Amino acid sequence: MAMVNSQVQVIHNFGAGPSVLPKEVFEEASQAILNFNNTGLSILEIGHRTPLFQPVMDEARALVKELMNLDNDHEVLFLHGGATTQFMQVPMNLLNENELASYTDTGTWAAKAIKEAGLFGHVEIAGSTKEAKYTSIPKDLVVSPTAAYLHITTNETIAGTQWKNIPYDCGVPLVADMSSDILSRQLDFNKFDLIYAGAQKNMGAAGVNIIVVNKNILGKVDRKIPTILDYRNHIKEASMLNTPPVFAVYVAMLTLRWIKKQGGVTVMEKLNAAKADLFYSTLDSLPIFKGVVAKEDRSMMNAVFIIENPELEKEFLDRCKKENMIGVKGHRSVGGFRVSMYNALTIESVKAITDLMKEFAKTKG
Ligand SMILES: Cc1ncc(COP(=O)(O)O)c(C=O)c1O
Repeated sequence: MAMVNSQVQVIHNFGAGPSVLPKEVFEEASQAILNFNNTGLSILEIGHRTPLFQPVMDEARALVKELMNLDNDHEVLFLHGGATTQFMQVPMNLLNENELASYTDTGTWAAKAIKEAGLFGHVEIAGSTKEAKYTSIPKDLVVSPTAAYLHITTNETIAGTQWKNIPYDCGVPLVADMSSDILSRQLDFNKFDLIYAGAQKNMGAAGVNIIVVNKNILGKVDRKIPTILDYRNHIKEASMLNTPPVFAVYVAMLTLRWIKKQGGVTVMEKLNAAKADLFYSTLDSLPIFKGVVAKEDRSMMNAVFIIENPELEKEFLDRCKKENMIGVKGHRSVGGFRVSMYNALTIESVKAITDLMKEFAKTKG
């Protein structure tokens, strides 16, 4: 839903993250800061181990299990640190120093994950589209059967690409950074051995990571793992090893409830596909604009595009700003434009920007 500012103007937020959340989540979260569940206390002042907060953590974890249809081998954790911490925590828990991990290189985020993995063991690149400036997803992967795991970034937020065919049958444990498309489409979540995501796009506020881990892949490395970084300790303590980011967990729980109320992940996928279809069909019908990503690999979450005449770039951004459309400027490393269409962005917002693009093309094309 678009936000409404103090002058009661509708603001369409296409930001890549932190990003728009459902309006009812904003309302309930604000209320909980003032008076949580009619207790007279703020959610910000209650102890995390009290009977007031414990149900929040329990419900958040249970909702992830339910929405992803997870089996009993898969544990759900809410941890601090952002997805960037997982770039390091994953190899620390899964990769021995003398072993090999297989990574796909599909963009800025994948490259950061690869760099961190190299600190813990050997890394092979199973597939890369770096040469093509990350405008597509690699199709033929070469994964060593001895690799400790294969890592993919299911959606590259900056490049605007998304894996449509998940390499479930890669022959080794599958690890995924789902920061920018978690719970936005139906996947066979049980076929992943580890999923991590920062919550701040599809699932809530910044400050918490969601981790889904198959407990059977843990405990196989020789190194000593610091207590707070060992997934097994968090599983043992039901994600309460230390003070969790309580407010971020609460916002995630509200967002998960909202996803469930909409009909779950399948409904999210249908809505997201409708938004992406509207956006990309408009883009392809206007020769003034150009998508930069191979069509079959286009992300449903982040549409990256340019304008043929670069002199019009600023003018288009100014028009967006004037029409209360924010977050359209492309990432600094890519340029052009990026329209992010996460779960909570309404089709009305997509209609607003596609109408603006059509009108702009008519006057400038
Ligand atoms: C795909 C992906 N991975 C990792 C990150 C890093 O997340 P964080 O800033 O939460 O560490 C981002 C941030 O946008 C992302 O889009």
